[in-house]
Amino acid sequence: MTDAVIAHLRLEERIGGYEAAEAAREAVERPYAAISELIGCQPEEVAVVENATRAWDMAFYSLAFRPGDRILTARAEYASNVIAYLQVARRSGAIVEIVEDDESGQLDVADLARRLHDDGGPVKLVAITHVPTQGGLVNPAAEIGRLTREAGVPYLLDACQSVGQLRVDVNEIGCDLLSATGRKFLRAPRGTGFLYVSRGILDRIEPPFLDLHAATWTAPATYEIRPDARRFENWECNVAAKIGLGVAVDYALSYGIEAIEERVTVLADRLRQRLSERAGIAVHDQGQRRCGIVTFSVEGVPAAVVQKHLSRASVNTSISELSSAQFDFPERSLNAIVRASVHYYNTEDEITALCQALDTLPGG
Ligand SMILES: Cc1ncc(COP(=O)(O)O)c(C=O)c1O
Repeated sequence: MTDAVIAHLRLEERIGGYEAAEAAREAVERPYAAISELIGCQPEEVAVVENATRAWDMAFYSLAFRPGDRILTARAEYASNVIAYLQVARRSGAIVEIVEDDESGQLDVADLARRLHDDGGPVKLVAITHVPTQGGLVNPAAEIGRLTREAGVPYLLDACQSVGQLRVDVNEIGCDLLSATGRKFLRAPRGTGFLYVSRGILDRIEPPFLDLHAATWTAPATYEIRPDARRFENWECNVAAKIGLGVAVDYALSYGIEAIEERVTVLADRLRQRLSERAGIAVHDQGQRRCGIVTFSVEGVPAAVVQKHLSRASVNTSISELSSAQFDFPERSLNAIVRASVHYYNTEDEITALCQALDTLPGG
């Protein structure tokens, strides 16, 4: 992937940006077909954009909310999405409603069903994060899709952290819109992402921004929007990174998404088990189904101290803080937790290295 990106940058340097894009036309087109194979849709239903956030924004801000319209979301929703809900609610009078979690910590499907059919006002959108930033939870995306289809309510799934580590099929899930990133489990360059827009919803929503790629200026006072999902893109992009995204998705397809999911799940379960056997460590992942993200805390040691210590032992982790999980952490009496993500290339030895590094944690 890196070689493909660098080769394209070199080509741009040598012959010019437009000329290089033309010469690499097939590779620039490849992400659409590769992504459609990965998530089970048509290439025309894919828009390639700068990141998952922009993909999600383009979908969300396409919907026109009126006073009293309800947005149903989950406790584990991604912070940027919630900020967008709050902004739109403030501007439009729409209502943001949190669907409760069940006792396992995943979205409570029965509570969602109830809210979809109660008389609290029109539900305009169900928007859920599949795998949250702050834990290994996998929300029951397909059960949610069954309910939204029955109710005829648009369903936007933030699959940023599930695509590339879990099998994600848009038809099985039943979502109308799905956003994802290149830079996480797909191992593509930073600054790449994509939006799936189902044929069924394409003509019912209008992108919040249009440019000369998303639409054609047909006469001095008219324009025509593109007939495919690329109406959610903009014209200028990082062509080398886009080529890299196609190569990375092809790589995941060649490894096999089922094989990736199995390996990631086994390694993460192993890490959770090893951590939970240790005194003073609490593992925080919730839900009936868990993925490759493992979150924990060490009694009496701030998450930032644990992260720095692990980093000195060459173990990369990150931290999820309250500002990423305002709907979620207060309910669980959490403030900040350490997040370790495994991928198929990680080894049992690396899991051991993480656990051994915790042995030498000052105050741990
Ligand atoms: C659930 C979720 N959605 C969206 C994003 C944003 O992804 P990107 O950085 O590609 O915009 C993240 C990033 O951490 C995430 O965890």
